[in-house]
Formats: sequence, C-alpha cells, structure tokens
Amino acid sequence: MIRIWGTYQMSTRFAILVVAMSLTWAACSKENNDSNRLAPSSGKVLCDSDQETGTPYQLEKPFYFPEPAIPADNPLTEEGIQLGKYLFWDKRLSRNNTISCGSCHFPSATFSDDKRKSLGLYGGQTRRNSMALVNLAWNTSFFWDGKARTLEEQLLEPIEDPIEMDHSWREVVEIVGTDVQYQKMFSDAFGSPCVDSVRITYAMAQFIRTMISANSPFDRSFYGSEMLTQSEQRGLELFLAEGGDPNVFPGGQRGGDCFHCHGGSLTLFTDQSFHNNGLDSIFTDLGRAEVNGSPLSEGQFKTPTLRNIALSAPYMHDGRFATLREVIEHYNSGGHISLTLDPLMKFQGVGLGLSDQDIDDLIAFLESLTDEEFVNNPDFQDPH
Ligand code: HEC
Ligand code: HEC
Repeated sequence: MIRIWGTYQMSTRFAILVVAMSLTWAACSKENNDSNRLAPSSGKVLCDSDQETGTPYQLEKPFYFPEPAIPADNPLTEEGIQLGKYLFWDKRLSRNNTISCGSCHFPSATFSDDKRKSLGLYGGQTRRNSMALVNLAWNTSFFWDGKARTLEEQLLEPIEDPIEMDHSWREVVEIVGTDVQYQKMFSDAFGSPCVDSVRITYAMAQFIRTMISANSPFDRSFYGSEMLTQSEQRGLELFLAEGGDPNVFPGGQRGGDCFHCHGGSLTLFTDQSFHNNGLDSIFTDLGRAEVNGSPLSEGQFKTPTLRNIALSAPYMHDGRFATLREVIEHYNSGGHISLTLDPLMKFQGVGLGLSDQDIDDLIAFLESLTDEEFVNNPDFQDPH
C-alpha cells in the first residue's frame, strides 16, 4: 500500500496515487480512526505518518496548572510549532487569499475577534461568535457545541468551511506543497517535504498548544506575591460565593455563584462541560443537542474560559452581549427559564440580587484575568 507520498513527487506519481488511494481507502480510514488521524472527506491523507523528526519541545506551564494531554501521535517539536505558526497566519489557506486563521483569531482580541459573528472570506457571517484560543492544550472538546473531540480534528474544518475559508484540502495541499520555503519547513518538522492535511493540521495544533496564558494580575497575586486591588479581591470573593439571600436561601452567601461552571480550580476558568446558562427560553441554536441528539442538551454550550475575557467582547456563542456588564446583568437577572436551564443557575425567577458595586467588583476581578504578556508575545504574532 502506498502511503509515502510527497507533493514533490506529484507529477510523476499522481496516477499511481489515485489508484492506490481508492484501493486502500477502507484500510486507511480504519487505520486513521485507530490513531487519532482523521481523514477529511477529500481523502488527503498522503504522507508517511511515522517520520516526525523535529527537536522535542517542552511546554512551559505554571506549576499550578494540571498536566496537559498532548496526543502521543503529535508530540510538540520546535520545528512543528514554527511551521504551525506560518500556516496559521497564511492567507493562502483561504480561496481568495484574503484571510488567515489569524483574521478571526487575532492577538489583541485574545485570538478571537471583535465581531458578534465573524466575517468570512466573502464577508459572510459565520454561524457563531469566534472563540478565543487560550490554553487549548487542556481542552477536552472543541467548538461551542463540542463537536470536535480533538484539536487536530477541529482544525480540519475551517479551510473547507464555505463561509470561513472556502478552500479545498486538495488545493491547499498543492499550494503549500509547491512552496519552497514550506518544503524545507515540512522536512525539518516531519522528516520529508511531503504535505497533506494531517501534517498541516498537526503543525497548527502544535502551535496552538503553545498558546498558554497564565501571567495575569490575578495569577501574580493569587499564586505569587503581588496584591489584587480591593475591588478585584472583592470581585473574586463574589465569584466564589454561593449566591442567594441568606434570609431566603439557607446557607446563601449573596454572591455571583460563578465558580461552579467557570471555576476550573482557578487555573483554566472552565469546567470543560456544557450548560444552558439561561440565555433563551426558545432556542434558535440547539447547541450541544446538535451533537448528541439529546433533547436534554438543547441550549447547552461549552463553558468558555474567562481568561483574557475583557479582550474578547462581544460575548456568548452568538455574541449577543457587548460588554461584561451586560453579561453580569444577565446572570443577575437569574436567566430565562426553559426545560434545560442548568440546575447551577439557581436563582431563576428571583435573580442574584447583586448591587451596582458588586457588579463593578466582579468586572474588576474579570479584568484582572487579562494577560498582556500573552497577547503581546512575539512568538504568536504574524510572521509573514
Ligand atoms: C471566518 C472566521 C474564522 C476563520 C477564518 C477561522 N476561524 Fe476558528 N473559529 C471561528 C468561529 C466562529 C468558531 C466557533 C465555531 C462554532 O463553534 O461553531 C471558531 C472555533 C475555532 C476553534 C475552537 C476553539 C475552542 O475553544 O473550541 C479553534 C481551535 C479554531 N477556531 C482555530 C482556527 C484555525 C487554526 C483556523 C485556520 C485554519 C481558523 N480557526 C479559522 C471563526 C473562524
Ligand atoms: C451554569 C453554569 C454557569 C454559571 C453558573 C455561570 N456561567 Fe458564565 N457561561 C456559561 C456558559 C455555558 C457560557 C456560554 C453560553 C453561550 O454562549 O451560550 C458562559 C458564558 C459566559 C461569558 C461569556 C464568555 C465568552 O467567551 O463569550 C462570561 C463573561 C461569563 N459566562 C461569566 C460568568 C460570570 C461572571 C458568572 C457568575 C456571575 C457566570 N458566568 C456564571 C456557564 C455558566
């Protein structure tokens, strides 16, 4: 079975490949499923999978973060990360050469964008709000509805999405594979200049896994020796308080009650789970239910991280809230009631009862999660 295939060999071996691919497709796809290598619909899985050769790269994470789960078949290498960065910022990945991944995931917006819904290469709106790319090495599912199980799988989508980049893997593989600079970079990262969708997505996944944010004023005070301001400190306490008027709810603490879903041990600020946080009573976007088919999941979305949240407005899967104040006012109202409203939205109908000062303090705390070093890190900026 022919698996070793470089674009540099394309002209001479194209006919053999077509025949070989069609004969061995069933075997290949099985193999790919077994190993986390997912074949896109166009079947562009062309290169030998066992040639990774780059210099091993040790991810630098703070001591208080858990261990990230790096897939065994896509270890980080310096050359792979560098290649991933070039691909991430390459506009030739979109059909009309106008947008790169970085157009909808740019640094000053903590690698999301500033639109309610992102604008694709022809100016069309994506279905949902762009997601911040922060600490994804720890993510256990991807997209607002968790449709993709791995980052590698997620990254197969944007290039062929007709609104986002509207390209085809066949053409992208050819464009990248005939670029002399990339041929060298693929050789350095993977051991041969062969290009396919697997190598492209694997390199981008390596790059994205290095995007770690953990140097905010919150980190430097909670885990270091700096001090939060009085307002930030009070906001943190409200974030961690159970909520509820003690006169009405036994054990109530009058607070924001945010930590159940966004606590994430005060490291990742997400529980990696799906909830209906009461945005609607009737759903125009079914969210998680689109993936698992369960009526109990209607209106559930992935809990987003709150790291750098001050930079990623507008908010929610549909970008409906322009400011953090609007977000907190939503929670303060108790949320809209529906059959799937999360039990952790405990103050439905009555609201949290936060004062204006409480809201100001919660916002101050959320703003203390902004990591300037992360968004200005030269390692993540456009190299082209
Ligand atoms: C036109 C804008 C646009 C482009 C271009 C784009 N994205 Fe996205 N990205 C989005 C939107 C919108 C979502 C959320 C989609 C959803 O959940 O349905 C998203 C989601 C993601 C996620 C999931 C994050 C998470 O926490 O689950 C990753 C990773 C990602 N994009 C990386 C990329 C990469 C890499 C590229 C380039 C190959 C890219 N994106 C191109 C708009 C875009
Ligand atoms: C029941 C779980 C739950 C609770 C409790 C909760 N959230 Fe959320 N939060 C979510 C989910 C799920 C989303 C995404 C919802 C969507 O887009 O449909 C979200 C979205 C957000 C966003 C927007 C993030 C973005 O990237 O757009 C912010 C900000 C936020 N929450 C802050 C808070 C604060 C502050 C509190 C406490 C006052 C809180 N949340 C309480 C689950 C929760």
